[in-house]
Amino acid sequence: MHYFDTIAALRSFLHANRTTQQVGLVPTMGALHSGHLTLIDAAQQQADLVVASIFVNPVQFNNPDDLARYPRTFEADLQLLEAAGCDVVFAPSADEMYTEPPLLRLNFGELETVMEGAFRPGHFNGVGIVVAKLFNIVQPDCAFFGQKDLQQVAVVRRLIRDLNFPIELIRCPTVREADGLAMSSRNRNLTPEERELAPALYQALTLAHDLLAEGQSPAHAKAAVTGYFATRPGFRLEYIEVANADTLQPVAEVLAPGQTAVCIAAHLGKVRLIDNVVF
Ligand code: PAJ
Repeated sequence: MHYFDTIAALRSFLHANRTTQQVGLVPTMGALHSGHLTLIDAAQQQADLVVASIFVNPVQFNNPDDLARYPRTFEADLQLLEAAGCDVVFAPSADEMYTEPPLLRLNFGELETVMEGAFRPGHFNGVGIVVAKLFNIVQPDCAFFGQKDLQQVAVVRRLIRDLNFPIELIRCPTVREADGLAMSSRNRNLTPEERELAPALYQALTLAHDLLAEGQSPAHAKAAVTGYFATRPGFRLEYIEVANADTLQPVAEVLAPGQTAVCIAAHLGKVRLIDNVVF
């Protein structure tokens, strides 16, 4: 596995090695888990050369405490990527990625007015900037993102379209623990007691899904989930939304198969968790 921490070294390697190869990019912020590794696996199926990036992007954190607490497990990450057969790791410092704070501002319009965009002001500006930088640096043919961050997938889809990046975006399914909890780097910050409670997030999504599948309205399903969390100590529900899975705009009716998403965000202790199901 090749490892680079400068843009220049990565570029010169890619310049010498890409020839006719399909390059796949898997952007991450490290603290890797099996969810990340399924993206590497998907990239290996489709690309000849897989580049994973590890970069805790300060520009996308709207909360300084969240950035400070974000888990960093760099040595273990390298071992996991090596064992997974990843070809190239790009792990730049913050100074390497941002020699000075970017003046550029990205606004994703209606994609930003709901859910993660509404509750984390500036978050998608930071995601858009770093993903655009990675696309320019690596120039991949395909890029892999997890459904776990469904709104991020929608934002990157628009970034690709709006800026004509010649990149195929592949959305990979959410990987869960045996008890349903979506894998997330932030799960490492849960106390053992909170970890026991955490699957309630997925149970709430399942409750909403089952009500919608029975023909109940999104408004009814959202009220049921709000009621569910009212009886759960430890949780503070931030939002529950039923939305179009591509545009993320709230819907009043269930859409055609595969197009309705139920999305949730909740605080459990100091950790903010998000999850969704698409059906
Ligand atoms: P990070 O949270 O490290 O996630 C990296 C990628 O892994 C994202 O595409 C995310 O959706 C995916 N992922 C996380 N948990 C997953 C799970 N349980 N199942 C499947 N995929 C999962 O998302 C980011 O980093 C950053 O915003 C980034 C895109 C790297 C830009 O900084």
